[in-house]
Amino acid sequence: MKLLVCGGAGFIGSNFVRQRITDHGDAVTVLDKLTYAGREENLADLRDADGFAFVHAGIEDAGAVAEAIAGADAVVNFAAETHVDRSIAEPDAFITTHAFGTFVLLEAAREHGVRYVQVSTDEVYGSIEEGSFTESSPLQPSSPYSATKAGADLLVASYHHTYGLESLICRGSNNYGPYQYPEKLIPLIVLNALHGDPLPVYGDGQQVRNWIYVEDFARGIGHVLAHGAPGETYNVGGPDEAVNLDVVRRIIDLVGASEDLISYVTDRPGHDRRYSLGSEKVRALGWEAQVRFDEGLERTVAWYRDNGAWWEPIRSGEYRAYYERQYGRALGDG
Ligand code: NAD
Ligand code: DAU
Repeated sequence: MKLLVCGGAGFIGSNFVRQRITDHGDAVTVLDKLTYAGREENLADLRDADGFAFVHAGIEDAGAVAEAIAGADAVVNFAAETHVDRSIAEPDAFITTHAFGTFVLLEAAREHGVRYVQVSTDEVYGSIEEGSFTESSPLQPSSPYSATKAGADLLVASYHHTYGLESLICRGSNNYGPYQYPEKLIPLIVLNALHGDPLPVYGDGQQVRNWIYVEDFARGIGHVLAHGAPGETYNVGGPDEAVNLDVVRRIIDLVGASEDLISYVTDRPGHDRRYSLGSEKVRALGWEAQVRFDEGLERTVAWYRDNGAWWEPIRSGEYRAYYERQYGRALGDG
């Protein structure tokens, strides 16, 4: 199969591309804008693989997309701004990429008549106190991130309804694992714990997230690509839920750091309390998560511990300024 993978230089996209090339022998063209979160280093081991190509461009660039899509059997779109806190501070890029960028990709997929998978998120449903979201739960996004992702989902669905495009939507829960940018909870806490830096916990730390190991989500997306029905949406949620403070404590144990590093900080505005995804529909297609949270977290901590060469350039670059803006203290200041 020949795939165009947009946003393939980011965290989940690079794990997906690795799986497609290694396990399925696909030819993959990655189109990525290389924002602060996208790094060619994430694909370094795949550069020489048969059929691999990289295009440095944004999904909003219709000319670059038209060239990259030629000959593809399907498009999988990961390209997005993905950090809720950044969407609260500076929403502009979220609107351009999720609304206009998705539109450009959909038009190209329509013109070429190719299958299109939109990678989306449980955050479009908003927060849930009890029970789990199904694919027919109402969309009630809370942040500029989730609102623009919900908008993109609606546009994708409209291209099936109106033009008959073979489009599908795959909504994932909180991913964790190798190559995740350390602005997100798990890699941030792992790296800070390894460095003896404070471990920022928003509000009371009692928020709940539904964790999925990135390779399980990547397989879920591949499963939807191969077996999903056009026009349908599939939730792909993880096997375990955990309270944020427990996640931080488990990482402290794995790293061998001190609980004294925990630092309660001002809560995120509009913070969603709990996410929980019901994934029966994708299970009925034959997908199952394989990695439980305890095992995945252990693997993740080991990966960050062993891959300093991956995160050292991040911790000494743009990330330092972001960290200071977000947490009001310099990285490494204790
Ligand atoms: P990420 O931030 O690590 O990577 C995003 C990638 O998209 C980067 O490579 C970036 O350079 C690229 N990109 C951004 N804007 C672009 C543009 N205009 N054109 C082309 N490329 C662009 O994100 P991630 O965590 O890997 O998330 C990937 C997708 O999965 C996103 O759509 C996100 O909404 C969704 N998702 C993420 C999670 C999670 O927990 N991380 C969970 C569910 C769904
Ligand atoms: O649910 C899927 C979503 O998961 C994806 O769509 C998003 O792209 C992804 O960023 C993630 O969103 P969250 O907001 O849930 O992830 P984040 O890692 O930013 O935060 C996880 C939880 O931890 C959340 O309740 C906020 C809290 N948190 C986060 C950070 C960065 C802290 O307590 N301290 C922190 O320093």
